[in-house]
Amino acid sequence: MTKTVKDYIRAIHDFPHEGIIFRDVTTLFADARGFRMAVDQLLHAYAGQRIDKVVGLEARGFILGGAVAHQLSTGFVPIRKKGKLPGTVISEAYQLEYGEAVMEIHDDALAKGDKVLIVDDLLATGGTADAAIKLCKRLGAELVGCAFVIDLPELGGRKLLEDQGVTVEALCS
Ligand code: PRP
Ligand code: HPA
Repeated sequence: MTKTVKDYIRAIHDFPHEGIIFRDVTTLFADARGFRMAVDQLLHAYAGQRIDKVVGLEARGFILGGAVAHQLSTGFVPIRKKGKLPGTVISEAYQLEYGEAVMEIHDDALAKGDKVLIVDDLLATGGTADAAIKLCKRLGAELVGCAFVIDLPELGGRKLLEDQGVTVEALCS
């Protein structure tokens, strides 16, 4: 039977804490067919739409977002955890599924009116993506949407994003 994107994702129990089932996309990325399928399916969802920049979220969003940007022939902009970007940044604090963190973007990475696509591996509570959306909007960018390989719908991230009018694409849940 033909494998789907979901078939390449591994579930690891009790990582990073007891009771958590971690959806591990390294097995998807490591497989040539799986990785291409995931990137192609993300691209398909935005066919015909103007995208000026792909914004990838640390860390696995860099891998996917870089491939998507290359295919679209757009630039790639990283949103990173606090203290990693060397230039002048703007910051947003957010709640993680486990803990609290701050995301940052270079303050000159996006221009007013840029159409941006945010890419990450997984949508859980939506805190990370929500912080990324706020950072992009603060720089005057217009959001085309947020694209993920995995949505964990029971954690409410999709609702958090869609309730603010953001289009969410996920390849599996
Ligand atoms: C994971 C995942 C998303 C985020 C989703 O990253 O890759 O970025 O959590 O969770 P949320 O929807 O509840 O915010 P993580 O924070 O583990 O960082 P890492 O990719 O640097 O390991
Ligand atoms: N996998 C990867 N990142 C995550 C997960 C997961 O299951 N849950 C929250 N962030």
